[in-house]
Amino acid sequence: MTRDDQAGKLRQLMRDVRTTRTIAVTGGKGGVGKSNVALNLAILLSAGGNRVALVDADLGLANLDVLLDVAAPYDLSHVVRGRKRLAEVIVDLPCGVQLVPGASGLEHLTRLGEFEQARLIEELTALEADNDFIVVDCAAGIAPATIRFATSADNTILVSTPEPTAITDAYAVVKVLTRHGYDGRMSLLTNMVADRHEARASYERLSGVARQFLAMRVLDAGYVLRDVKLPDAVRRREPVVLAYPRCPATRCLAALANKLGRGGLLVKEEMGFFRRLARWFA
Ligand SMILES: Nc1ncnc2c1ncn2[C@@H]1O[C@H](COP(=O)(O)OP(=O)(O)O)[C@@H](O)[C@H]1O
Ligand SMILES: [Mg+2]
Repeated sequence: MTRDDQAGKLRQLMRDVRTTRTIAVTGGKGGVGKSNVALNLAILLSAGGNRVALVDADLGLANLDVLLDVAAPYDLSHVVRGRKRLAEVIVDLPCGVQLVPGASGLEHLTRLGEFEQARLIEELTALEADNDFIVVDCAAGIAPATIRFATSADNTILVSTPEPTAITDAYAVVKVLTRHGYDGRMSLLTNMVADRHEARASYERLSGVARQFLAMRVLDAGYVLRDVKLPDAVRRREPVVLAYPRCPATRCLAALANKLGRGGLLVKEEMGFFRRLARWFA
């Protein structure tokens, strides 16, 4: 066997044993960049050769389908109401990402009979097994649904701007997750910063209080610079990393995606995200 063959075999082996990593993107407030971070991270991870599903668990403003300019006529609420199968609501995006629209419809899982519930969870679990990463775009704040999605993921990325109010709101999320016994990894991504010093100061502030008052470790996921190309891309309804592959925001997001792709910051899923999530609703 040549060296290349061996390397290929090893890669295959590593692929077989690899399990899915789930990342819930959340934060204390709306408008801090959660959806854009979730969407663009998903695209970058996919471009890096990973199989990625992007779950829209926020039905607030700026839905992922709006950011992407794709039609998502159905969402998980249709599956939950028994109108559609999971495969019919998933949108295969051109960038290779599988979009799962309207996951907050899972709130009404109890409307399903026991058999249908089990079938849906099976389908979602299969989707999970088929992907290397599940990225969940969560709503902001400490609403019960947000907490359920975040605590079901093994990894949460809190998005915050450097403003003290945003940091305080992000801290409230850390507090609630901690109170719910969250045992995954939490990290802070500071968005719309002027430079890395501003980001570092925000990280020190949040991680300091989390350590001191909650005995909780918050990791540093880095930062995304304030970049006019981002709102510009949003207006064009194109993900910034595709519209402007070399702009400052894209570079920052790519640095994070690289780190995550190499397994940095993250822990692997043990029980399965959707199974854990289903326990909340069933
Ligand atoms: N790095 C950034 N630089 C400049 N503007 C940004 C940046 N990130 C987000 N924005 C602006 O914030 C708006 C809200 O972002 P969005 O991802 O929808 O936030 P959320 O999901 O937290 O509500 C975007 O439409 C964009 O105009
Ligand atoms: Mg959003």
